[in-house]
Formats: sequence, structure tokens, C-alpha cells
Amino acid sequence: MPFFRLLLLLPTIFFMSIHSSYAQSITSRYPFTYYNCTSNSTFSPNTDSAYPSQLKTLLDWLSSNGTRKDGFYKTKVASNNPADTAYGLFLCQQGIDIESCQQCMIEAAKLTPTLCNFAKEAIIWHRVCFLRYSNRNFFTTVETSPKLFFMNNKDYEGQVGHFNNMLWDMMNDLRNESAHASKKWAIKSINITENQTLYGLAWCLPYLSTDDCSWCLSYAIAEIPTSCCRGKTGGRVFYPSCSVRYELFPFFGTSTWEPPPSPSSHSPPPSTPAGSAATFNLH
Ligand SMILES: *[C@@H]1O[C@H](CO)[C@@H](O)[C@H](O)[C@H]1NC(C)=O
Ligand SMILES: *[C@@H]1O[C@H](CO)[C@@H](O)[C@H](O)[C@H]1NC(C)=O
Ligand SMILES: *[C@@H]1O[C@H](CO)[C@@H](O)[C@H](O)[C@H]1NC(C)=O
Ligand SMILES: *[C@@H]1O[C@H](CO)[C@@H](O)[C@H](O)[C@H]1NC(C)=O
Ligand SMILES: *[C@@H]1O[C@H](CO)[C@@H](O)[C@H](O)[C@H]1NC(C)=O
Ligand SMILES: *[C@@H]1O[C@H](CO)[C@@H](O)[C@H](O)[C@H]1NC(C)=O
Repeated sequence: MPFFRLLLLLPTIFFMSIHSSYAQSITSRYPFTYYNCTSNSTFSPNTDSAYPSQLKTLLDWLSSNGTRKDGFYKTKVASNNPADTAYGLFLCQQGIDIESCQQCMIEAAKLTPTLCNFAKEAIIWHRVCFLRYSNRNFFTTVETSPKLFFMNNKDYEGQVGHFNNMLWDMMNDLRNESAHASKKWAIKSINITENQTLYGLAWCLPYLSTDDCSWCLSYAIAEIPTSCCRGKTGGRVFYPSCSVRYELFPFFGTSTWEPPPSPSSHSPPPSTPAGSAATFNLH
């Protein structure tokens, strides 16, 4: 079932564009994987520092705990020298099955240290999950950088002012709902005209407080008309601590939101392998 839903999302790929000055993509095998080695501080592999081995253990733990049902895990591997403690977390897209989550995590945990080599800190958005690690305790902070934007290239045709007002109201409702939700995410849909429905999603890292989540989402929502996707029919803003998305079609992979039949679901699947297609189905 989830595989089928991913295919349904395929047609969206052809009019999506990505713009970000804060993350780079891997062009070869994983064209839709984005990462940033966020710290210029590196470790040298041949010193006494315990960090490389703590980091290795951390990545092992994150990979093996990808089976957790809630698709989220955060942990630290402590060291006698606090500067060598490794902190890390992963989060899978809401509504995906445990197998896809775990597979994504295993790939991300392998990929990141090779991409970021000796950096002490890194973040990666890979297919349906994201992974982050550092030697500083980032669990206590709300972070809005590095950031990543995707926009739907299609302009909204119709009453743009009305659309923007409805979008703004919906995103702010989603902000409030996610911030108060125990899992810190929410989805919503509203009818903007008699034949157009707007769909939205907002999420925060599950351990954020209501205030921190609300604060983070306020910044993410403010990117929509400024940096991300002004006047467009869809867009996504990713921060390390929270994220928002809106579209004129249903895009959630959850069983609570079955996509209605649409003309695009009858098109033959493009030649893109499902594995790489899934990379667009980020949170
Ligand atoms: C990584 O993110 C930082 C901000 O946290 C940004 O200054 C830097 O340019 C980014 N690097 C790349 C390669 O995008
Ligand atoms: C890393 O160094 C580059 C070049 O000196 C700088 O532009 C960038 O902002 C630095 N990034 C961080 C996260 O300090
Ligand atoms: C999960 O992480 C914990 C530490 O937080 C670790 O002890 C355990 O081995 C990891 N793997 C599994 C499958 O629980
Ligand atoms: C925010 O959400 C809470 C809980 O869902 C609800 O009780 C409250 O009325 C909402 N506030 C606003 C301003 O929508
Ligand atoms: C939105 O439109 C759909 C189909 O046109 C309809 O079934 C639904 O009741 C409408 N929802 C609201 C809240 O008006
Ligand atoms: C919505 O309905 C109106 C008239 O009822 C029609 O002109 C318009 O093309 C429809 N828009 C879409 C996107 O189907």
C-alpha cells in the first residue's frame, strides 16, 4: 500500500523545483538527498579523541533503532570528555511503514559520515527520513538553519488574494494544532473554492515544547510568501527543528488520508525507479 501511494506522488516530480543555498544535493545515486556538514570543526581520525568511536556507536544505535514504531529516535553516546559526546536523532516521514523507515535510516547513517567525512556535525534529508548528529547538545535548541525549500512551479491561477488568505489561515491553524499535539504534527484540508481543496502539513521535532514548536513554525510559515513559494500552488520549508508543506492535492502517506482518484494516478509510472522517486516524498 505505501508503495502504491508513493507512485501516486510521482507526477508531482515534474513540476517541482528545489532551491536552497544552505544544503547541497548528491547528484549521482541519490539526486534528491540533501545534506549539510554544518560545522567547520573537524576531528582528526588519528588522535586520542573519542569522538569518532562515539559517533560510530551513535550511528549504529540510530540504525538499529529505526524499527521503533513512532519513527523517531534521539540518543547520545556519552564520553568521559564531554566534548567527545555524540548526540543524534532521526525522524521518519509520518505515515510510512516501519520497514521503509528503517531502511532509510540505515542508508542515511551510512551515507552521512562518508559525505561529511570528518565534520563533527551534519544533517541529511534522505528519501523519507532525516538524520542529524553533533558533538554539541542540540536537543535543547530550536534551529531554523540550515534550511531547504521546495516549490511547486505552478502559479496559482484564480483569486490569488483569496488563496493567500486561506493559505495563511490554514498554516496558522496547523501551527497551533501541531504545537499542541502530543506527536507534534498535524494535517488539514480546506475547500478554497467549490472545486479546489488545499492540503497542509506541519510538524516539529516531537520533543519540542508547545512554545518552541509554535515559534519554529511561525518562522517556517513566514518563509512561504518571502523566500519559498510566493503565489505558487505548493511548497515546502524544511528546518532542522520543524517543517511545513501545502499543496492543492492530497500528499500525506498516512492511512487516515486516502488520496481520491485523480487523472494523474492513471498515468503510467515514469521510468524513474520507485526508490529514487520516494526521495521527493519527504516530510
Ligand atoms: C550549511 O549551512 C550553513 C548554515 O547553517 C550555511 O552557512 C552553509 O552555506 C551551508 N553549506 C552548504 C554547502 O550549503
Ligand atoms: C565554514 O567556513 C566557510 C568558509 O570559511 C564559511 O563560509 C561558512 O560560513 C562556515 N560554516 C560554518 C557553519 O561555520
Ligand atoms: C538502540 O539504542 C540503545 C541506546 O539508546 C542501544 O542500547 C540499543 O542497542 C539500540 N538498538 C536496539 C535495537 O535497541
Ligand atoms: C489552539 O489549539 C488548541 C488545542 O487544539 C485549541 O484549544 C485552541 O483553541 C487553539 N487556539 C487557536 C487560537 O486556534
Ligand atoms: C469540501 O468539498 C467537498 C467536495 O466538493 C465536500 O464533500 C466537503 O463537504 C467540503 N467540505 C467543507 C468543509 O465544506
Ligand atoms: C472549477 O469550476 C469552475 C466552474 O464551476 C470552472 O470554470 C473551473 O475550471 C473549475 N476549476 C477546476 C480547477 O476544475
